[in-house]
Amino acid sequence: MDRKIVAATNNLNKLREFKEILAPLGYQLLSLKDLNIDVDIEETGSTFEENSLIKAKAILDITNMACMADDSGLMVDALGGEPGVYSARYCEGTDKDRVNFLLEKLKDVPREKRTARFVSAITLCFPDGDIITATGTCEGIIADEAKGENGFGYDPVFFVEQYGKTFAQLTSDQKNMISHRGNALFELQKQLI
Ligand code: IMP
Repeated sequence: MDRKIVAATNNLNKLREFKEILAPLGYQLLSLKDLNIDVDIEETGSTFEENSLIKAKAILDITNMACMADDSGLMVDALGGEPGVYSARYCEGTDKDRVNFLLEKLKDVPREKRTARFVSAITLCFPDGDIITATGTCEGIIADEAKGENGFGYDPVFFVEQYGKTFAQLTSDQKNMISHRGNALFELQKQLI
């Protein structure tokens, strides 16, 4: 029988990525929506790890089931690691507005200084008190302009050398193979086997 894990997210893209990696390991992923849970958990941590633990623990307290949460974001070297844990709230508006805000901030920064990485921390909390945390990163360069239609968030400007494309130009399989969340999930997988 599949073991059940509740994912502390309503982000459909993340849910799909989590499912694609955990299903082959025999885990059935439930969403907050599946359990009719509607909570807004404040991300008060200063690191991705702290925020993922805060979210996973909050849902464990409600469900008493194994819960996983991720916290992720983009760190741009030329901006001292911004937007970091504030990636989702970098400016008001849509993902597109945030991409444009980032491009504007980097408009005078030459290509060789546009290095960046996505970071994902995933925490899995079990009712017996066990906690597993895994972190993954993916290195890239912030492109001069948005390209591609896939993915979400900053994908259209996150250029990866190994494909010569932005994340938004990759299929979800290609992205999962190298992404920060994919790498964090592979790390988590090693700890679960
Ligand atoms: P979280 O939902 O609190 O983890 O916020 C993550 C934010 O970081 C998202 O809203 C995006 O802006 C950005 N982000 C995280 N992962 C990705 C990704 O795989 N592609 C594009 N943007 C991402």
